[in-house]
Amino acid sequence: MTWRAQNYDCYTIQDGRTLKPIVFLASGRGNLIRMESEQKSLEPGVLPDPGPIPEKMYAQVIRRDRYGEPETAFQIELVDTPHPGPDEVLVAVKRAGLNYNNVWAALGYPVDIISMRMRQGAAEDFHIGGSDAAGIVFAKGANVKTCELGDEVVVSPASWDSADPYIQNGGDPSMAPSLKAWGYETNWGSFAQFCLAKAWQVYPRPQALSWEESSVYLLCGATAVRMLLHWTPNVVSEGSPVLIWGGSGGVGSMAIQIVRAYGGIPVAVVNSEDKRYVVESLGAKCINRSEFPVPGLPSENAEHWKDEAQAFRDEVLRLTGGLLPEIVVEHPGQNTIPLSEFCCAAGGMVVICAGTTGYMAQLNGLETCRRSVRLQGSHFAGQRDIETLHALISERKLAPYIGAVHSFEDIGRIHGLMRRNEHPVGNTAFIIAD
Ligand SMILES: NC(=O)c1ccc[n+]([C@@H]2O[C@H](COP(=O)([O-])OP(=O)(O)OC[C@H]3O[C@@H](n4cnc5c(N)ncnc54)[C@H](OP(=O)(O)O)[C@@H]3O)[C@@H](O)[C@H]2O)c1
Repeated sequence: MTWRAQNYDCYTIQDGRTLKPIVFLASGRGNLIRMESEQKSLEPGVLPDPGPIPEKMYAQVIRRDRYGEPETAFQIELVDTPHPGPDEVLVAVKRAGLNYNNVWAALGYPVDIISMRMRQGAAEDFHIGGSDAAGIVFAKGANVKTCELGDEVVVSPASWDSADPYIQNGGDPSMAPSLKAWGYETNWGSFAQFCLAKAWQVYPRPQALSWEESSVYLLCGATAVRMLLHWTPNVVSEGSPVLIWGGSGGVGSMAIQIVRAYGGIPVAVVNSEDKRYVVESLGAKCINRSEFPVPGLPSENAEHWKDEAQAFRDEVLRLTGGLLPEIVVEHPGQNTIPLSEFCCAAGGMVVICAGTTGYMAQLNGLETCRRSVRLQGSHFAGQRDIETLHALISERKLAPYIGAVHSFEDIGRIHGLMRRNEHPVGNTAFIIAD
């Protein structure tokens, strides 16, 4: 693929076919690079040929008056296709990944993200979600030098404003005030024929992965890398046990592989024997929480709580040969944080990226203090975490565990299954176009 000249560039795809001239067009949002020809709208499921940005695209859309169960909150609509601003890239989506954040988007809870964005000045009164994407660069803003039209790319879910003073002063973008979860806190995610991302979100697609795998690894994988390798001194090390909630889920299945790659001992929690098979095949020891029930909140009955919690902790100790986990990968939140803290080694860390069962957690402060347990929040990842993830993939030490591949039409239904914890294990990809 090559670019030439300033006003009339030539776009040649890899089979040598030379396409029509590209012009730099002025748009309301800045200079835009795209193809010149006729193209008004697309067939659903069809990857667009290089050409002008179609006026309309099919998208799975959430609207405020449909907030509620994902099965009905998501509806396919024909909407205006967005145009990239000077620092943005428009990607023709081939595959999109399932993530929990668009369960929250569908519910409009705990945040009404459409109203939140409109209060911040967004014009659109709808949400197109999807925080993992794999596709082809279709158009890009004039400032974008890091990718070319026709490139096979994946999109990272961390979006930020490059003019953010915190970042300008050398701050980590992943902790910047302007950080937003793309396809959740921002619009124009991957559940549409085109998605819109900042140039710094776009990475070359790992060639070791299929298109389906490429669309599901980045959000959960980089989150798990950060949880396990970033928060020094509590990082995975040779022979050290790590307790992983939801071991067969998106974050959990990635965490197991990362712990293994760094020589740790993953102990994964699941709720069924089918899922036991999955986590054991990834190399984890397993606790089926239906056999070792997670006790309720400590305040309900402190003595009884400790007895039940002790049974769970004894099982952890049995599986690890007597070691308590130095890291606990926490995301169920409210229901499990007291037990995570109770099972964590002295000086260890409970690292929390979510609260799927609720965010108002309670913990045993006495135990936390006495054993110096660290409670660490962790949100997505930084550039270094993404590089580490890509190195693990290219060294074939990590690959997404794809539980299912579904159609574009199924996006609402599968989010509904996810809400009820009935969705397929591992990561799920959606076919947007071929
Ligand atoms: N902050 C971030 O940057 C970030 C990034 C990625 C994900 N997240 C969040 O992390 C959470 C997990 O994401 P995911 O993609 O791994 O979801 P997932 O694939 O649905 O996996 C979640 C797992 O949680 C377990 N679980 C559900 N209810 C539970 C309960 N009551 N007690 C114990 N375990 C329970 C389930 O395992 P079993 O039923 O088999 O035990 C399930 O496999 C979501 O809330 C997501 O939004 C946050």
